[in-house]
Amino acid sequence: MTDEELLDAARVAREKAYCPYSNFHVGAAILDENGDVHIGCNVENAAYPQGSCAEAGAISAMIAAGGKRIVTIAVAGGGENHTRACTPCGGCRQRINEFSDADTRIIIKDDSNEWHTYTVAELLPKSFHLP
Ligand code: THU
Repeated sequence: MTDEELLDAARVAREKAYCPYSNFHVGAAILDENGDVHIGCNVENAAYPQGSCAEAGAISAMIAAGGKRIVTIAVAGGGENHTRACTPCGGCRQRINEFSDADTRIIIKDDSNEWHTYTVAELLPKSFHLP
């Protein structure tokens, strides 16, 4: 599974996003330690705080399928017909952190189609861990 293929999986998931309130479509695809891929999209709700992010859906799918660690997570966001750079929100950085290690990669393409690869430590320095 190449980075390009994983981002493609995120883009396919993005097409399923339910986001009538923001009209910001997000897809996420996780490659886990078994080589399996899990996808998610954002699912909004009329009661706004009940909406969920694409990354949260992909993490739920990974855990339900028996995966334990995120090797790579690709995120794609944007309007209905065009992708835009989308790094995980603060809450999703913490969610990703829970199932990551120092080698976990978060990959996106920016508005110029350039790749960016981040570690969790870069996106969430000094993260919270239970003592
Ligand atoms: N969203 C995600 O799905 N993931 C992120 O990391 C950023 C934000 C969703 C939440 C909401 O449905 C829409 O994008 C606009 O914030």
